[in-house]
Amino acid sequence: MDNYESFKKDVLSLTGIDLNSYKEGQMKRRIDSLISRNKLTGYNSYVNLIRTNRDKFDEFVNYLTINVSEFWRNGEQWAILEKDILPVITKSGSVKIWSAACSTGDEPYSLVMLLRKYLDFSRIKITASDLDKQVLAAAKTGIYMEKSLKGLPAEFRTKYFKQLPNGQFEVSADLKRCITFMEHNLLSNSYPSDFDMIVCRNVLIYFTDEAKEAIYRRFYKSLKANGILFLGSTEQILHPKDYGFEPISSFFYKKI
Ligand SMILES: C[S@@+](CC[C@H](N)C(=O)[O-])C[C@H]1O[C@@H](n2cnc3c(N)ncnc32)[C@H](O)[C@@H]1O
Repeated sequence: MDNYESFKKDVLSLTGIDLNSYKEGQMKRRIDSLISRNKLTGYNSYVNLIRTNRDKFDEFVNYLTINVSEFWRNGEQWAILEKDILPVITKSGSVKIWSAACSTGDEPYSLVMLLRKYLDFSRIKITASDLDKQVLAAAKTGIYMEKSLKGLPAEFRTKYFKQLPNGQFEVSADLKRCITFMEHNLLSNSYPSDFDMIVCRNVLIYFTDEAKEAIYRRFYKSLKANGILFLGSTEQILHPKDYGFEPISSFFYKKI
């Protein structure tokens, strides 16, 4: 393969995605395999392909961003959220949460379902963001294959989904109204603020240590006093105090 350094520059100018902030070995292996699948042998020819072919460009961004998600992903984390975290952060009678890197929306919709046990829909405000336009479009539509719902408690499936004639499931309008979806790159855009909780799961693992550290600091600023940071099950912060966080339970950190 020809020069990966100049390929990274081309990708940044074409997509706004800075591959320098993603762990290199893993990312390069993924990209090389996608290039082979397209029956090309070098980065230059692949850049020409994505520059000129919209479908191939979308395929690249989609592949790069690893969009896997599902409702109630890692159920044990949702159990802790329900038992230890939500009773505290909903005490004031309303809540404002950011689901960062939300992919197809499974995570923010799961949040609203659980929050409704504590608050009226009108008191629940979720900002859900991702850098990939395609997943955001799917998230706004709110239509899912049955396999995305496999981990979801039955009570929520019955209450909040309608099955469509084609067998897929659509989330209720009540849930959709609580969520504002927005395009946002965690590595380059300015961060919204004033959140009771930030949920950012299964994306930081792809970033370099420097990129992660910068994100922890920015999340800290985006949280209210005593706000909670909720990370993925393999994404513990090694020295949380260095960033102003106190671990309160596995994967949950409080702003101190
Ligand atoms: C594996 S999904 C995680 C979805 C969800 N949080 C979950 O845990 O099920 C990772 C998401 O991160 C998004 N992503 C990757 N790099 C990003 C960046 N720099 N800024 C914002 N989102 C990013 C991808 O588009 C993808 O939708």
